[in-house]
Amino acid sequence: MLSFFGLKNGPKQVQIEGVDAAIVSDGKETILTAALKAGIRYPNNCRVGGCGACKCQLKSGKVKELTESAYILTAEELKAGYILACQSIPKTDVVVHVDHIDAGAPSHPLVTTGGTITARRALTHDIVELTVTLDEPLRYSAGQFAAVSVPGVVEQARSYSFARAPSANGNTEVVFYVRAVPNGVMSNWVQGDAALNHRVVVEGPYGEFYLRESGSQIYAIAGGSGLAPVRALLEQALNDKCNRPVVFVFGARTQKDLYCLDDFASLRAKWNADFTFIPVLSHEPEDSDWKGERGLVTQFIEKRIDPQAQVYMCGPPPMIDAAIAELERFSFRANDIFFDKFLDQSHTAAPEKKAG
Ligand SMILES: Cc1cc2nc3c(=O)[nH]c(=O)nc-3n(C[C@H](O)[C@H](O)[C@H](O)COP(=O)(O)OP(=O)(O)OC[C@H]3O[C@@H](n4cnc5c(N)ncnc54)[C@H](O)[C@@H]3O)c2cc1C
Ligand code: FES
Repeated sequence: MLSFFGLKNGPKQVQIEGVDAAIVSDGKETILTAALKAGIRYPNNCRVGGCGACKCQLKSGKVKELTESAYILTAEELKAGYILACQSIPKTDVVVHVDHIDAGAPSHPLVTTGGTITARRALTHDIVELTVTLDEPLRYSAGQFAAVSVPGVVEQARSYSFARAPSANGNTEVVFYVRAVPNGVMSNWVQGDAALNHRVVVEGPYGEFYLRESGSQIYAIAGGSGLAPVRALLEQALNDKCNRPVVFVFGARTQKDLYCLDDFASLRAKWNADFTFIPVLSHEPEDSDWKGERGLVTQFIEKRIDPQAQVYMCGPPPMIDAAIAELERFSFRANDIFFDKFLDQSHTAAPEKKAG
């Protein structure tokens, strides 16, 4: 089938049942990107085919899938024609059906803009803080992330969470915390001197990790650079005069992996209710001078969580899976668990591109 513009490789019409919208994809972008650019509140979480949040049923037309979706969708869903919108580029005009929309999720229009890495600061031996000055302002909600690519260096964008609360009038400067992943292309490149003053492309915002309205305890868990979106979330909540009690458990291996401790001490000092910050070390030598907690982030859940809490978690997928298993152990409500797994290509890769 040719597109409504009559061009095989040209723009395609995408009709989205469930949000009652008809949009146009440029023929190169995914259904998710086209929908977010059109300002549609389309469910999405990871952007890399690893969470299933963006799944939709392909009712008519054809798509090209960028990665294999078989491991994230069930056999029944695959049989019923479900696809991942973040991994599907329309090859023809298409009609898709979305089952569930989160009416409270952020709906800032997706912006693609150039930017320059104007500052870089080591936070630990393997985490850097990057400040990117954008050519055009970008709006986001605390907890969301951007897709960042480096023309000529890393063409395929990687996801990085905004580490600071957003400005009310849009942001011309954004901050990311990036942890070096062994053999990771982007995360190691940004640690080097070449990154400073280098041009990048930033597309965002993506994601539905945001603070839900409630009066209940905020129980947050982060590991490594997963601290970034939790920091943004809590900073924004402070600006909004939030008076919910907070327990924030920050997992790291050793003392040299801890950072932003002073920032959290200052946040806690200004907070309008109880704020407990627990850094916990999993691999700190027994004979070191560390006086704080040792062990895993999961060991505090049962003791510290309020039964009515909302849980917010960010960081390495195994840490989040372990915390979910612990929450399930005492039948914690799944509807009050929110997380961003920092998936990379070792979790999601299926490099062969296949036509639909
Ligand atoms: C929603 C979201 C938010 C995120 N936010 C942050 C953040 O704020 N900070 C942060 O540091 N990270 C964040 N990440 C992770 C980030 O997007 C990158 O995945 C990470 O920085 C690694 O990128 P890289 O280019 O260095 O590694 P890559 O080059 O992508 O490689 C990552 C790993 O995968 C392996 N690998 C590469 N290709 C394949 C393949 N084909 N098959 C199997 N293994 C392969 C590599 O050897 C390496 O170990 C986030 C991820 C998501 C999904
Ligand atoms: S699988 Fe598409 S947003 Fe996660």
